[in-house]
Amino acid sequence: MEKLLYIAANPKGLEKSKGLKIGEAFLESFHQVRPELEIKKVDLFSLDFPQMDADLVSARGKLAGYGYSLEQLSDIEREKILLMHNLANEFISFDYFVFVSPMWNLSSPAILKAYIDNLFIAGKTFAHTVNGPKGLLMNKKAIHLQTRGGQYTGTPMEALESGDRYLKIALRFLGIEVADSVITEGFDINPLKVPEILEQGQENARLAAKDFATKLVTV
Ligand SMILES: Cc1cc2nc3c(=O)[nH]c(=O)nc-3n(C[C@H](O)[C@H](O)[C@H](O)COP(=O)(O)O)c2cc1C
Repeated sequence: MEKLLYIAANPKGLEKSKGLKIGEAFLESFHQVRPELEIKKVDLFSLDFPQMDADLVSARGKLAGYGYSLEQLSDIEREKILLMHNLANEFISFDYFVFVSPMWNLSSPAILKAYIDNLFIAGKTFAHTVNGPKGLLMNKKAIHLQTRGGQYTGTPMEALESGDRYLKIALRFLGIEVADSVITEGFDINPLKVPEILEQGQENARLAAKDFATKLVTV
């Protein structure tokens, strides 16, 4: 059975976050079209996963660069690299991915980058080939729902946006098909229009969900 993983990178919770409300609208609409699909939600701010720290960088280098076996790693290196592989294995077991994040300082919350760092595993999620790197996560599909305080689309600020851009690049690098993002922006520069912008964002998310759900991944 196909499965959808909903990955939220917002510490504010549903009551306060506009993005998470847009995410719920997306899920509801998706569920109407594909009620048989299992949906799992993860909140990155309460998920326990390893950071790319000295132990993990060392373990990664020893395994990939120097051909060490797991047994040759220190206990803490082995523990962290196994946690990393477990997280990646779980991710790989899903077919659809919905990422929900706010724009923070021109990018995404750092926790989302830390999560993505766990997914870049040579030989598992991508391979080095004679023609360069190749993504191994085929027949999977993702979408990003992003909220922004300012207005970037159609303004000189557009080129500065690095959160949605990076996420799409990273997912495509891993071989995942990435649908058009649902961007809802201008919340903080139009405080009186927040309900209106939110409603439009939810409507855009509902429409995107229908499209995302009906164009099936080709297995
Ligand atoms: C730490 C932080 C940094 C932010 N940086 C930006 C930014 O660079 N550009 C922007 O347009 N909005 C920025 N914002 C505003 C949020 O993107 C905006 O309030 C958005 O609507 C939040 O969505 P949410 O309600 O789902 O959290 C920032 C907010 C926070 C908390």
